[in-house]
Amino acid sequence: MRVTDTSDLWWKNAVIYCLDIETFCDSDGDGVGDFAGAAQRLDYLAELGITCIWLMPFYPSPQRDDGYDIVDFYGVDGRLGSLGDLVEFIRTAKDRGMRVIADLVVNHTSDQHPWFTQARSSKDNPYRDFYVWRSDPPPDTSSEVVFPDKENSIWSKDRKTGEWYLHRFYSHQPDLNVSNPIVRDEIAKAMGFWLELGLSGFRVDAVPFFLETKGIDHQAGDPHDYLRNLRRFLSRRTGDAVLLGEVNLPYEQQVEFFGDAADELNMQFDFVTMQQMYLSLARGDARALARTLADRPSIDPDSQWATFVRNHDELTLDKLLDSERQEVFDAFGPEKNMQVYGRGLKRRLPPMLGGDPQRIRMVYSLLFSLPGTPVLFYGEEIGMGENLAAEGRLAVRTPMQWTDEDSAGFSSAPPDKLVAPLVEGDFGPGQVNVVAARRDPSSLLSFMGILIRRYRECPELGWGTFSLIDTPNPAVLAHRCDWEENSLFIFHNFAAEPAEVSVKLNDGDVPSGGGILTDLLEDTRTEIQPGETLTVELPAYGYRWLRIQVPGAGRPW
Ligand code: NOJ
Repeated sequence: MRVTDTSDLWWKNAVIYCLDIETFCDSDGDGVGDFAGAAQRLDYLAELGITCIWLMPFYPSPQRDDGYDIVDFYGVDGRLGSLGDLVEFIRTAKDRGMRVIADLVVNHTSDQHPWFTQARSSKDNPYRDFYVWRSDPPPDTSSEVVFPDKENSIWSKDRKTGEWYLHRFYSHQPDLNVSNPIVRDEIAKAMGFWLELGLSGFRVDAVPFFLETKGIDHQAGDPHDYLRNLRRFLSRRTGDAVLLGEVNLPYEQQVEFFGDAADELNMQFDFVTMQQMYLSLARGDARALARTLADRPSIDPDSQWATFVRNHDELTLDKLLDSERQEVFDAFGPEKNMQVYGRGLKRRLPPMLGGDPQRIRMVYSLLFSLPGTPVLFYGEEIGMGENLAAEGRLAVRTPMQWTDEDSAGFSSAPPDKLVAPLVEGDFGPGQVNVVAARRDPSSLLSFMGILIRRYRECPELGWGTFSLIDTPNPAVLAHRCDWEENSLFIFHNFAAEPAEVSVKLNDGDVPSGGGILTDLLEDTRTEIQPGETLTVELPAYGYRWLRIQVPGAGRPW
């Protein structure tokens, strides 16, 4: 890679790990995770191969949306520690080679934020214009609410002044008015503050809602101009900082948020691919995913997709057709208590796949070999399950399972004093925990370590050009990633039956004097000659990553 190119885009082949301080590790026995506890686990994350930690909101909050309802953009929730503890955490992470990014939640505040307390106190309060108000009764917006179990409108009437305020999410989360230049300044100031403390960027919450404030669009100007401004600000303050955006829209609309000149969000989560992957898994047929990957818009080399299997919210299936969503529900979450908001699942992957180790590994092999930057949600590396008794999205936000002890080694407090309920049964701490997994070379954790190492050793995956390879077998997804004269050939079998695929290689894929074919996950090597067909055998739910290289001149893998 040439230095003058883009080798400083660290996030192009990062391994991102999302964690919530509250549920990761409790150092003082009060049942709530804290920065000091999480800092003790940084060596574990470094050893796993994580290069970037994404912190879910840690700001002071009444916790009515698990911290996404913020009352102070400049603080740390006292239960989790102090600003000093946060800085120690960031510094120690950096020392271990990991960067830290955090949620930037500026679409809204908590209704207890001092700005909103002021704003609602009178129509002429200086903070009134920090939020979005309307004086006439709103139309029916019940189809626009994000949480249909709790809200039926995106406008709520405020008693004191008799006007309605906008809230895209819960009614206790009033939307900020981003057309107000003072609000824009406040947002920039908060970003600048955290960058000074050592953050390497932000996971930007709810980007389309944040930018397009309903009711004031006419004053707000082009939302993309504002996003470009924010990106410029970020880059001026911290040149290598990243904006990783949550934009769950169809591809045609989503790509606009990268910016025409790759000058808006650096990265975006790929919700569409994630959903089609589940559809393919449910069908045992790779074609839905293959079609989506073929249609995935190509993006500038300075932009990147963030790929994921699970995040902290419902596993949303909102971009599937109703009949497709039903197929996924039938396969992976048939009971009503496994579903949420009519569009998603409350489950984690291992229980959805009945704990089948081979199939679970296949999915993670896919995650790490699809072009993009993989993002893990804490506990995925050991195969944690969910607690369906927990309300809504909290089902997957259970304490990290470090040991098989009563409180999972998360805390010395008893289980009934923990901030969140533990997973019970087959995927709970008794069966699934870090200590046991570390001792077992055949554990999911050990496999995840190998995948992460290989991913980091294969720049083709983060940086390269992706293309599908035609195979006659609909159960097999075959693709290649090419970068700087190196190629990877990757195969995944979505079916419960073994498969064999033959690939006709292009001229030049095999060196003229013959090449070495390396299986990157099995560490086996064979010879291959030009003109030979590449024949790949895959067991049920099998996966293989292959590289062809010049004998003697290549890499050890
Ligand atoms: C998106 C976050 O991912 C979700 O957890 C949160 O509830 C909403 N934004 C509102 O902040």
